[in-house]
Amino acid sequence: MKLPEKPLNQKQKPLFRKRLLSWYRKRKKDLPWRKDFARLKTPYPVLISEIMLQQTQIATVLPKYEALIKKLPTIEHLASIDEETFQELVQGLGYYRRFRFLKKAASQISEAKVWPKTYQEWLELPGIGPYSASAISSIAQKNPVGVVDGNIERVLSRLLNYQGPIERKIKARYQELMNDVVCSKEPGDFNQAMMEVGQDLCLPKSTQCNICPIQTFCLAHKNQTQSICPKPKIKSKPIDVFIDFQVYKNNGKIALIKRNLSKKFFPGTLGLPYLEITEAAANKKSISHLHRITKHKIHCIITHKKNSPNNSTVQWLELEIAKKKVVGSFDRKVIDKLISG
Ligand code: ADE
Repeated sequence: MKLPEKPLNQKQKPLFRKRLLSWYRKRKKDLPWRKDFARLKTPYPVLISEIMLQQTQIATVLPKYEALIKKLPTIEHLASIDEETFQELVQGLGYYRRFRFLKKAASQISEAKVWPKTYQEWLELPGIGPYSASAISSIAQKNPVGVVDGNIERVLSRLLNYQGPIERKIKARYQELMNDVVCSKEPGDFNQAMMEVGQDLCLPKSTQCNICPIQTFCLAHKNQTQSICPKPKIKSKPIDVFIDFQVYKNNGKIALIKRNLSKKFFPGTLGLPYLEITEAAANKKSISHLHRITKHKIHCIITHKKNSPNNSTVQWLELEIAKKKVVGSFDRKVIDKLISG
């Protein structure tokens, strides 16, 4: 499939920006990080929200963002909070690696006593990739860089009537296009407007072209090909994994440990001790339940153990308290099973 051409000529670009920005100003979402940024004028709320919003729905992020900002109102608070309290604050959001990196990045920024200023400087921080660097530097600091997220990829594919799959070359082309078309005066609003067109109007299975501010520029609308732009990703078959949870109980309390950083699932977090076992070994035990984590289909086994885990980080906690403290969704499911007996 040929790489898409540029969507807009020099004459069209100002009109495209104008229509998109005036639509966004009228109907942009009332989100707490936007208000916090307008009030505080520091990149902190933008940094926190952009990391939380990776792979996570706005509705899921909202209460977690509010609780985190209340407890950790500045980058210095985030840099100095203990790991365990921080993990509790982001519990339930998934993809925990991003939060370990966020904490490291916060320490670096707070030690340096200055915020990164450019896309390139943001990219140098742990856990900040092209998406976060472009979103944060454009929204918080008006750097004229375009953002490309999954929603924007779909919007661009339709603008260009691109019916192929979103491969790496296409992503790179879309980044060039967004950098070219982004409004240099208001890059943050421009990028967020494109995100919101993708979130609310230009959905994978339905489109609201009649109210779309950029409809007149859209080749898929012109050709009525919205439903085939772009070609959907082929979902790969899940990988089967067999996890044996080691449940130690004593006086109504269970043992949690701080996991080693080498563990495959939820490394470095407080959780139940577990072993990854082979399918053959799992077949000799009974599977308690299944759990999905991204591309893994996890077959969970619960083994009741005696005494105490051989680990220096053990904490004995009541089940309800343990449930609040663990970070992993798969830990919570096991604890729920233990609670319900
Ligand atoms: N998704 C990720 N970042 C966002 C933002 N700044 N506004 C709206 N949706 C988003």
